[in-house]
Amino acid sequence: MFGFLFFVLLTPGASEFLCASPDLELSYTFCDSTPHAFTFNVTPCTVANRPTWEAALTWIPRSDITVLKTIFNVWYEGAKALHWREVLCSGADDEYSLCGALKGETIAAAFDIKGSRIAFPKGNYNIILEGFSDDYEKDIIMCLNFTMTVKHDTF
Ligand SMILES: *[C@@H]1O[C@H](CO)[C@@H](O)[C@H](O)[C@H]1NC(C)=O
Repeated sequence: MFGFLFFVLLTPGASEFLCASPDLELSYTFCDSTPHAFTFNVTPCTVANRPTWEAALTWIPRSDITVLKTIFNVWYEGAKALHWREVLCSGADDEYSLCGALKGETIAAAFDIKGSRIAFPKGNYNIILEGFSDDYEKDIIMCLNFTMTVKHDTF
C-alpha cells in the first residue's frame, strides 16, 4: 500500500508536489523553517465528480500524539473562504490509528477525505493546515501550506 511513497527528510521551504492532472494541481510546503520527516499523498488527483480522496501519510512526529487538534483555513483567490477545527485525537477512545503515536515513532496512516459536499470552482486556493498537540492551540506540531489550482469548473 505504501510502496509508492518515497520517504525523505524534506528541506524547509521546498515545495513538495502532490499531484497534477488536467483539472487539478496540488502542492505543499511547511509553514515553518525546520525540516520535517513527513510525506503526504492523495488520490485521485481531481475535484471532478466530488470524489472521496484516499490520503496516505507517513510522519515521524516531534512529540507524542496524545491530543491532536487541527485547524483548517482555506483562502480562495486571496479571500478567506473556510475555517474549521477538528479534534482528531482527544487522548481516549480515538478512532484514528495515528492517535497515541510516540515521539520519534514512524506513523503510516491511510484515511479517506470526503470532499463530496464541497464544490470547488475554478481558481487558486491556499489551504493552511495546523496541528496542535494540546487543546489550547499553543503547541504547534505541524503546519502545512497547500497550494491548489483548479484549472476549470468541473460541476
Ligand atoms: C503559504 O504560501 C504562500 C505562497 O505559496 C505564502 O504567500 C503564504 O504566506 C504562506 N502562508 C503561511 C502561513 O506560511
